[in-house]
Parts: sequence; C-alpha cells; structure tokens
Amino acid sequence: MSDQDLVIRDLHVAPAAKPDHEILKGIDLTVGKGEVHAIMGPNGSGKTTLAYALMGHPAYIVKSGEVLWQGHNILKMSADKRARLGMFLAFQYPMAIPGLSVASFLRSAINARRSGLTPDPNIDPTDAFKGGIPMGEFRKLVREKMALLKMDESIASRYVNEGFSGGEKKRLEMLQMAVLQPEMAILDETDSGLDIDALRIVAEGVNAMLNPNMGVLVITHYQRLLNYITPDKVHVLAAGRIVVSGGKDLALRLEDEGYAPILAEAGLEDDVTDEAAEPALEAAH
Ligand SMILES: Nc1ncnc2c1ncn2[C@@H]1O[C@H](COP(=O)(O)OP(=O)(O)OP(=O)(O)O)[C@@H](O)[C@H]1O
Ligand SMILES: [Mg+2]
Repeated sequence: MSDQDLVIRDLHVAPAAKPDHEILKGIDLTVGKGEVHAIMGPNGSGKTTLAYALMGHPAYIVKSGEVLWQGHNILKMSADKRARLGMFLAFQYPMAIPGLSVASFLRSAINARRSGLTPDPNIDPTDAFKGGIPMGEFRKLVREKMALLKMDESIASRYVNEGFSGGEKKRLEMLQMAVLQPEMAILDETDSGLDIDALRIVAEGVNAMLNPNMGVLVITHYQRLLNYITPDKVHVLAAGRIVVSGGKDLALRLEDEGYAPILAEAGLEDDVTDEAAEPALEAAH
C-alpha cells in the first residue's frame, strides 16, 4: 500500500436525515495508483452514497471505517480539502448554480486546486492582479479541453448547468475533470443520459485523460462504457456491500445475465434493494 492508493476500510455510512439506517454496511476497497475500478450494482444499492461519502457530502454520516488518501484519513476533511488533495467527483445529477459563469467557476476551481491543501493568501481568483492562473493560459487550457470533449465554447459564459441539457451537464463534469487534473476521479454514472455519439466522445475524452497518476472509480450500469475505459477491476455493490469483484468479464456477464445469478451465488436474494434482503445478507456473513 502506498500513499497514492485510495484505501477504504470497513466503511459504514448512513444519511444524516436517518442516522440509524446504514446504507453502506462495510465497504472494503483499494484503488491502486493509476488503476481504473468500475462499480456496478442495482438501483438503490448505495453507489452514489459511496461517492458522496468519499467526497465528504454533508448529508451523509460516516458511522465507522476509514478512508486513506495521500497519507491522510480524509474522513475528517471537508469536501474542499479533499478536492485540493486531488479528489474529484463527477455528479450523477449535476446541480445548476445560477449567477456563476462556467468560466469563473472553472478558474476559481483551478486556482484552488493549484494552491493545494493550504490556500495561498497571495492568490485571489476574483482579483485580476492577484495571481492565480494567468488569463491567457486559462483560456488556452479550457479551449483545448473543450475541443477534446467537442463542446461549444459559448458554454463558458453561461451559468453553471443552468438550462443545460442532460448531456451538456455530463460534458461539463468532464470538462471540470479535464482542467482540474485530479489524482482520484470518481465518475458517478457519467454515461447515463448521453446519446451514443456523446457517450463515445466523453468516453474517448476520459480515455485521453487517463494517466499513471490518476486512479478512477467508474460507477456505471452499462458495460458499454467499459469498452472505452478498460477497468482493472469490476466490483458489484449490493445491499451496501461489495459482494463480488472480478475483471472486465464480470461486467460482460452482468450485461448478459442481469444481477440475479451473481447475487444468488453471493448468497443474496435477487431483490436486494429493500429490507427483505437484509436477513440474507446477515446470513451470508
Ligand atoms: N439522504 C438520504 N435520505 C434517505 N435515504 C437516502 C438518502 N440518500 C440515499 N438514500 C437511500 O439510500 C439508498 C441508496 O441510494 P444511492 O443513491 O446511493 O443508490 P445508487 O446505488 O446510487 O442508485 P442508482 O443506481 O439508482 O443511482 C436508496 O434506497 C436511497 O433512497
Ligand atoms: Mg446513484
């Protein structure tokens, strides 16, 4: 294990609104430096909850367990600090931020990321005279990444996600990833809502971003994304736990057979989305 691995140990998570109702019931997962892992699993199995817990979403409470990244147990850190440490989440449902332009948003985010864990008081992205990424360099970077993702440049002056189509929102998530150059990227169903051409463009864009310094956790329902982004490992999350792990062939098998046979082999009922599955899960342990 190195500092460059993301290590998740026995992670238990509940929504803040229902703190006694654990959604994640003990996740163990290590994503090695530069590795691509895919997480698949039925609706409601806890995939987004895992993504949010890793990123520090305040609506979720970590009941126990630890997450190690870059030499820190990050669970005590704010989402902002985690992002400064190179973690990135592409949302399943990106939110609109009326009043904030895409360009200002990206520029602030880049400056924060570049200043690292401790913000640099000499950098103020709202002040043209106080450092940060120079405007020329910023424009060049954003143009280059927009071209990679085949995005219309006019999007830069619009408000973040305001009135964006589903596909435009997903592309903007990827644009953020492209300019921020994270070391650990979590993509929560980035492929959903994309038409076939957009899926190919986005997937090829992500492919072009892959590098030995970036680990990726791809949450997806569809094997087709994994045709472009080849995972080192595939995990099935069901009823709050990783019940099976394998290679790319596991994703192909899921596409062919659905979840039922694989979950049955793991000792789970096939309907794992409700409480009825819990006794079976307990028995499996
Ligand atoms: N804030 C919350 N309050 C109450 N229940 C929640 C909350 N967040 C998540 N849940 C519940 O936790 C379960 C897991 O939700 P989650 O969004 O993690 O599933 P998912 O695996 O991402 O599903 P999908 O494939 O549909 O995106 C669901 O039953 C959901 O209703
Ligand atoms: Mg989800």
